[in-house]
Amino acid sequence: MRRKVIAGNWKMFNDINESQNLISKLISGLNSETLKNEIIICPPFTSLSEAHKLIQNSVIKLGAQNLYFEDSGAFTGEVSARMLKSVGCEYVIIGHSERRTIFKEDDDLINKKIKKALSAGLKPIFCIGETLEERESGVTKNVVEKQLNLGLNSITEDNLERIIIAYEPVWAIGTGKTATPEQAQEVHEFIRSVIESKYSAQAAKVLIIQYGGSVKPDNAAALLSQKDIDGALVGGACLKAESFIQIIMAA
Ligand code: 13P
Repeated sequence: MRRKVIAGNWKMFNDINESQNLISKLISGLNSETLKNEIIICPPFTSLSEAHKLIQNSVIKLGAQNLYFEDSGAFTGEVSARMLKSVGCEYVIIGHSERRTIFKEDDDLINKKIKKALSAGLKPIFCIGETLEERESGVTKNVVEKQLNLGLNSITEDNLERIIIAYEPVWAIGTGKTATPEQAQEVHEFIRSVIESKYSAQAAKVLIIQYGGSVKPDNAAALLSQKDIDGALVGGACLKAESFIQIIMAA
């Protein structure tokens, strides 16, 4: 049985005070029902260190939203894998569609970032997904397969075990338009089949594949009950403790 992994991507929200408030509310709202799942929060860089202190005695794990693949150097504005480790990060989101579209990150850069995260001992949450135009022209599977092949280029099976894949159809992010459980399941099953042919049946079987894109308390249970959906990468609904906890409960 694969565990369910619920991650909250805070994006560029919450200053230090707002972060402290949200984390305190989360910690007090979690109960034994929610402990069966793995829970990750990904605050902005400026709140990571404080978040790490606040979650010390809780089940919540910490992730960052991005990194740069070099160890150090003249890369103004960038943050390294080692820096993320030093503030207590265990996970890092890589290849989010907002990074791909707004910041022009390509598959090659994403692959370098995944490799750096792995070598530094971080677990990548590797995001893939098609745009509305791609879905409407019927190339969803080709897009997802290409992103998987390029993003995972030269990554070995033992490293794959430390990677979570997040399928986030771009048209469902922040739009309130969720993929139906059937639409999401179809792509998740396909992702697992790509991993099976690229690696092995065992690698495909244990791979955690999250769904992301307008996951809310009222649609979480239906999505998370699909057989190949192993968790959620939540944006908007993770910014309120109540709704994030309801999603965790639904899992
Ligand atoms: P929303 O849940 O706001 O659609 O965002 C999803 C997302 O991008 C998570 O990484």
